[in-house]
Amino acid sequence: NVGNSTNILWHDCPIQKQDRQQLLQQKGCVIWLTGLSGSGKSTIACALSRSLHSRGKLSYILDGDNIRHGLNHDLSFRAEDRSENIRRIGEVAKLFADAGVICITSLISPYQKDRDACRALLPKGDFIEVFIDVPLQVCEARDPKGLYKLARAGKIKGFTGIDDPYEPPCSCEFRFSYSFQKTGAFILQIVLQQKGSGCKS
Ligand code: PPS
Repeated sequence: NVGNSTNILWHDCPIQKQDRQQLLQQKGCVIWLTGLSGSGKSTIACALSRSLHSRGKLSYILDGDNIRHGLNHDLSFRAEDRSENIRRIGEVAKLFADAGVICITSLISPYQKDRDACRALLPKGDFIEVFIDVPLQVCEARDPKGLYKLARAGKIKGFTGIDDPYEPPCSCEFRFSYSFQKTGAFILQIVLQQKGSGCKS
């Protein structure tokens, strides 16, 4: 599908993904983090990137907030703009994976159909969906940017989880489940999902 572009032809280069992967000694892929605002996506993305970096693996984070400062600065939080945001970032992530990079995306990506469309862009196994499964009450209590407070006060309209939907993944590769320690500290634990077991708690 080339949208509105006509008379365009794909141009291939003899240096292919496998050549780049060989050079980098790694496999390019997309690790797609999805979850509510305040669930810890950006923190996890950063921790993962640091860990990969320390092991000599090249990764790059595409963070929703950051991309909306540039490439996607023209998009709002209406449903169709959120979908376009995910579509564009899915395409960019595909390019990073093709370059041989481990691309970590950190986006609410509230709609299943949009995440599925991004998965469909990549070869099987190269799209790893990770659900940051932190309930709304916990995200709202954390409220790191004070946005839930503004949304509850009606100062932000269409805020995910408050007056805008979030569709939890029905099938994902990994899930982070939250718990509290006795000290009250908030911890996230990674859970490997069995194929076909869905992503529900
Ligand atoms: S989406 O739904 O995937 O297109 O959103 P994303 O690009 O990831 O951007 C989410 C960050 O934007 C801030 N923000 C909002 N989030 C949800 N709903 C509304 N209306 C909204 N307005 C601003 C918020 O800081 C999100 O950051 P995170 O990192 O998710 O907390």
